[in-house]
Parts: sequence; structure tokens; C-alpha cells
Amino acid sequence: MSNSPVQQELKLRSGSVLKNRLCKSSMNEALATGEGRVVREFEVLYKTWAEGGSGLLVTGNVMVDAHHANEPLAVAVEDERDLTELKLWARAAKSQGGQIWAQLSHPGKQSPKFLNDSPVAPSAIPLVSDMFMPPRELREDEILDIIQRFTNTAVILQKAGFDGVQLHGAHGYLISQFLSPNHNKRTDQWGGSLENRMRFVTEVYKSIREATGKRFNIAIKLNSSDFQKGGFTHEESIEVAKVLDGLGIDLIEISGGSWENPVNRRGEQKESTRKREAYFLEFAEELKKNVSAPLMVTGGFRSQAAIEEALDSGAMDVAGLARPYAVDPNLANKILQGQGYRSTVEPITTGIKKVDDMAIMEISWYTNQIRRMAEGKAPGSKPRGLFSVINVFYQFWKRGQVVKRVRA
Ligand SMILES: Cc1cc2nc3c(=O)[nH]c(=O)nc-3n(C[C@H](O)[C@H](O)[C@H](O)COP(=O)(O)O)c2cc1C
Repeated sequence: MSNSPVQQELKLRSGSVLKNRLCKSSMNEALATGEGRVVREFEVLYKTWAEGGSGLLVTGNVMVDAHHANEPLAVAVEDERDLTELKLWARAAKSQGGQIWAQLSHPGKQSPKFLNDSPVAPSAIPLVSDMFMPPRELREDEILDIIQRFTNTAVILQKAGFDGVQLHGAHGYLISQFLSPNHNKRTDQWGGSLENRMRFVTEVYKSIREATGKRFNIAIKLNSSDFQKGGFTHEESIEVAKVLDGLGIDLIEISGGSWENPVNRRGEQKESTRKREAYFLEFAEELKKNVSAPLMVTGGFRSQAAIEEALDSGAMDVAGLARPYAVDPNLANKILQGQGYRSTVEPITTGIKKVDDMAIMEISWYTNQIRRMAEGKAPGSKPRGLFSVINVFYQFWKRGQVVKRVRA
């Protein structure tokens, strides 16, 4: 064993301990039924990831309302009907001493029209893409209902044995929509000043904390910025993190961008970012000066050397990786054993620019690797892009994905 910073335990505010500094960041598994029901394949998949040695596994986004999904075949937990399957999932994920946190999400207006013909949002401002129906502005009683839904889902997951939850406050979903001055034009207590725009996320946090207690982990995935003109800025992100830190949040994962403006891809990058691999490390350095909660940085890490350097620098406490885990479930063990791990993940291309520019190409390929693992197979190594897209649509059909019409 090498003496690497990744091997160190991390004691969290909840009192629980992460056995090392490596985390599989959230990836929608696309394994649920069209109604968002949990199936036994989750158990197989998470057992494989648990055996890979990571300290923490964060699930794909779990919807708090089955009628509002951000992606096809995402899990929705609104009641205890899948408690047995959830327990098996949590047990498998924890079988090697690592923790499992469930990522909780409501997509707001970022819910595609093939899934949802009546999306809601802080304000009735449509997204630019015609993939989404224009949203309706939420009434205050509906905002309170969604806060209760987040809480309800967290309580069920705690009962099922999950060690914590992570609020999906990044990538343009409902929490981000509330935070963004571009998307939140409300004039009541839920919009306007930053204090008002962050009320939704702080109320969700407080409500879950009260219901689950101090020893349950509550984390957030927060955008460092949404990288949009007039949008949620670095400075505002730091202010939100400071408030959540003061409320006792257990971990802050840093990410960035939204569906309209994805930044989690290797496009144009500063030379320094290219070298350090992680896209949001500079922001983490800044945030670290302002909060005492542990920080996790996700996006871009591909090598043991870069992860160790980032941990050694003190800018972050946990390294989050997503795509590499879809290809190599054993990557944490390789890093922990000091094998000089370097991911071979490459952007998926077909050579047809129009197709390659579609995020669905890349997502589909990774989704197919995850499905292979859930079926007990090894992830494939060949980047067969178009085949992946076709296969993903076949799975939507097979698992009964349907458009959800909102009640009343
Ligand atoms: C197939 C796939 C599904 C994803 N699903 C989610 C998700 O459910 N929630 C989330 O916060 N991020 C999701 N992400 C984004 C990742 O968590 C991560 O932020 C991003 O891929 C950058 O990290 P990486 O460079 O290590 O892949 C997903 C990414 C992929 C490739």
C-alpha cells in the first residue's frame, strides 16, 4: 500500500466516517421502471461499485415527485412501496464498509416534454430549447408541498438504510432555478434578493434535518456558477455555501453549468485546468477559505496523480468522479493500491458533428455501461455511439416510460 491522501478517513459532522476520499458521484442509472419503481438490478450494480472500494457512493438522482422527472427511467420515491428493494440496494452498497447517499431532485422546468407536459418553475420563464414545455409558476402552497416531498423522500431513504442524502442543487434543476436571478423573477419571499432566492434550498435542508436528525448526512451538489450572463455567480455560490455551512451541512460537492449550458465536458480549457484535470478546483480553493464543511470536487478527474495533488493541496477533501466509474467500477481499489491509475475514458464520437454535439450520445453510452454492470456483465470497452442511443430508446420502451400528466 502506498501512503496516499486518498487512503485517509474523513470524519463528517454527522459523526460518521468515510473510509477513504474517493466518491462515485451521481449518475442516473436509468434502470427504474417508467413509473420510477426500484428494481433488483440496483442491488447488483451497487454491489459491484461497493466492491470497487470507494468511501462514498452517491446514487443517481431520485425524484421526489414521480410526475416530475428530469430523465427517463429515473427512480422516484414518494412512499414505502419499494422499501424492500431500497433496503437491498442500500445493503449492497454498504457491504464493503462504504457509505451510500441518495441524491434527491426535482427538475422544475428542466423536465423534457416527452416525460412531462406540465412542468413547474419558480417563474414562468421558458428554457430556450423546445425539448421542454414552457413552465407554470409555482404557487406558494406548491413550494411548501415540494419541500415536504424532499423531506418525505429523505425519511423513507433513511428508513431503508441510506447513510445520507444529497440535494441536487446544480445543473439547472429546481433548486438551481430558485437560486438563479435569470430563472427566478418572483417578487414574494422566494425570489428577488439572494437571501430570498436561497430560501427554498435552506428550507429543504432545515426540514430534512429536523425530520432525520443530526446523525444523518445531508449534503448538496452546488453549482460554482451557472456560467450564464446575469445568472448565479461564483460570489453568490460562496454566499449560499456559507449559509448552508452555518446550518451544519455535512458536505458540499462542487459542480457547474446546466442543461442549457453544459460545462462538464472537455471543451476549451485553460492550460492550468487541463493539467489539474478538475474543472472546478480553482473555485474550491476560494470556497475553502469561506466554509468549514468538507468539500468534494467533481468533474474532470482522470488520474491518481491529479487526485492526490488536489487532496494534498488542501483545496478539497473528497474527489468525485462519475464517467470513469461507468467504465471501471474498480478504480478506487486501483488508486488505493497505488497502481498509478489513469482513466481511459474518452469523449464518445461518431465523427458526425451534429450527432456528436448532442449530449444524449455521450450520456447514452455511459448509461449502457451502467446497465451492463447491473446485468452482472463487465462494462463494454467499445465506444459504439449510435448503437448506445438506439439501445437507450429501446430500454425506455421496454421499461414502460410514459408521459406523466400532472394531477390537477
Ligand atoms: C450517464 C450520466 C448520468 C449522470 N447523472 C447525474 C445525476 O443524476 N445527477 C448529477 O448530479 N449528475 C449527474 N451526472 C453528472 C456527473 O455526476 C458529473 O458531475 C459529471 O459527469 C462530471 O464528472 P466526470 O468528469 O467525473 O464524469 C451524470 C453524468 C453521466 C455521464
